[in-house]
Amino acid sequence: MKSIVLANSNVIPSIGLGVYGLRSGKETINACKQAIELGYRHIDTARVYLNEGSVGKAIKESNIDRKEIFITSKMWNTSIRFRRYRQAFNKSLKKLDVDYIDLYLLHWPEKNFLEAYHFLEDMVILGKIKNIGVSNFEIKHLKRLLANCRIKPVINQIEVNPSFNNKELIKFCFEHDIKVEAYSPLGGKNHNYVNNEMIIALAKKYHCSPSELILSWELNQGLIVLPRSKNILHQKDNLCLNDIVLEKEDMKKIDALNLNIRTGKDPNKYE
Ligand SMILES: NC(=O)c1ccc[n+]([C@@H]2O[C@H](COP(=O)([O-])OP(=O)(O)OC[C@H]3O[C@@H](n4cnc5c(N)ncnc54)[C@H](OP(=O)(O)O)[C@@H]3O)[C@@H](O)[C@H]2O)c1
Repeated sequence: MKSIVLANSNVIPSIGLGVYGLRSGKETINACKQAIELGYRHIDTARVYLNEGSVGKAIKESNIDRKEIFITSKMWNTSIRFRRYRQAFNKSLKKLDVDYIDLYLLHWPEKNFLEAYHFLEDMVILGKIKNIGVSNFEIKHLKRLLANCRIKPVINQIEVNPSFNNKELIKFCFEHDIKVEAYSPLGGKNHNYVNNEMIIALAKKYHCSPSELILSWELNQGLIVLPRSKNILHQKDNLCLNDIVLEKEDMKKIDALNLNIRTGKDPNKYE
């Protein structure tokens, strides 16, 4: 499994299974167990997905050493807004049935995000979180955070796909040694790019599937990708076992698909 070294020298697998929208219970458990069997070692969940319990169960039932799986979860907006940091975090630990979380993120730059982040810093010091970061933070939010933190965020999880390549924010993150996770990496619910003609033609050139081509465009930029699938064939494809290096010209062709249209919410609306 490909991996990336974070600013604090910890290592994160470059490909993680996204589980947004997977129903708690059998659906999430089966998707995660199947993925672990295929070789996934990184799962991206969140409090608000309501499936942390099933992710934890799948890991236990997979009989794999917990230390081998990189688990990400996220604190939801209402917990940040209403200052329920401890309850939210403890619930994540309990649901996942673990005594530490590999990566814990603030899901959105909600009101009180600085205070919530200081709580995450305390959890790092206590060893309950190995790495902290943020999600959906724009440059203005990151500047405020960087000026006021004791422990720098190692990750910003943001939307990146051919419709919305988010280049300026990625550049800012890299300049500040913050690694970037691409969410909705295939285009999410609105703009799935696996059926795009140009992507299909390029995939033929590199002897890979369209999803591998898109994810390789992201991996080649040094991003971590979080494709979501419950389908075994798709999960296998998305592991990108072929290690494809795209030619510069082909990278540019995919860059040019940018429409500046997000599939998700606009984080600029958060102050
Ligand atoms: N931090 C945030 O605010 C935030 C927001 C959105 C998402 N995320 C994270 O990012 C993850 C992924 O984003 P996403 O779920 O929006 O979208 P995505 O991964 O871009 O796309 C998922 C869709 O693509 C299909 N798909 C997956 N692999 C495929 C393949 N090889 N060939 C054809 N179709 C394929 C899936 O269907 P099948 O199941 O049929 O394969 C599903 O309908 C989420 O699960 C979550 O962990 C985070």
